[in-house]
Amino acid sequence: MRSKITVPDLRARKATAGRGERLATVTAYDATFARMMDAAGVDAILVGDSLGMVIQGNTSTLPVTLDEVCYHGRAVARGTQRAHVIGDMPFMSYQASTEQALTNAGRMIKEGGFESLKLEGGREIAEVVHRMTQVGIPVMGHIGLMPQRVHAMGGFKVQGRGDAMAEAILEDAMALADAGAYAIVVEGVPAPLAERITHAVDIPTIGIGAGAGCDGQILVCYDLLGLNDTLRPKFVKRFDEFFSRGVDAVKTYIDEVRGGVFPGAEHSFGLQGARSGVLPPNLPAATTSEGVPMTFHGASYGPTQ
Ligand code: KIV
Repeated sequence: MRSKITVPDLRARKATAGRGERLATVTAYDATFARMMDAAGVDAILVGDSLGMVIQGNTSTLPVTLDEVCYHGRAVARGTQRAHVIGDMPFMSYQASTEQALTNAGRMIKEGGFESLKLEGGREIAEVVHRMTQVGIPVMGHIGLMPQRVHAMGGFKVQGRGDAMAEAILEDAMALADAGAYAIVVEGVPAPLAERITHAVDIPTIGIGAGAGCDGQILVCYDLLGLNDTLRPKFVKRFDEFFSRGVDAVKTYIDEVRGGVFPGAEHSFGLQGARSGVLPPNLPAATTSEGVPMTFHGASYGPTQ
């Protein structure tokens, strides 16, 4: 088993300071996708509150609860051997007070299996970030376009196009780095601003919709794989078309079921030992694709040898 990627490993990958390759990170929400991302070799997997949109079908991340993030976190942790696993603190799980933030952060580490946590916000959450890092909970910041503030922003809009807002976002980044964050997601800002932020802080910046000047990138795995058939934002590159390929595969399944092609003999089970008179004679024995005979073992089944 390859060794786990840790917070110090990620922290040390300040690529733009010449200390390593850019960080390639993704989201995942279940064990199978986590296994896929881990097998490909990503550095970190975020169980993002984007699960509210891509898994639950909501129009924003706001309804996601702490219990839901923990549920998906446990699944992702079980599917991951090497990548670092980060949990997204959901809306209003850390904004009310430092005590609330610490209590909920503790729950996410204990119940979600997370190795670090991500929080949206800048200077206004610096105290929370400081207290969390003091008690040993590593924090990834998230600035620029913060989806939990969709109503305040008037939609999912690029942030920091004007000078004043750009300066404010830069100050947020520096405040988070000073407070002890080990990395910062920079979302939905002009590429030159992300580059400026990256040079201003000594921790890795992870961009999404922020150009190529960050120390790493993150994409929602459903976007990356082309599983989102309804949205095609400018910043997303689809590296495959899983949705349309899935539709084609299911259409073939439907045709084969309706046409009596599936299941074939190779997908069917035969009898073991004496054959019952009620069953047709000469029913072929089922085998695995390697030709190994199959048999039922109680509720599950598997090769007999
Ligand atoms: O919730 C999420 O998936 C995120 C990433 C897109 C950064 O915050």
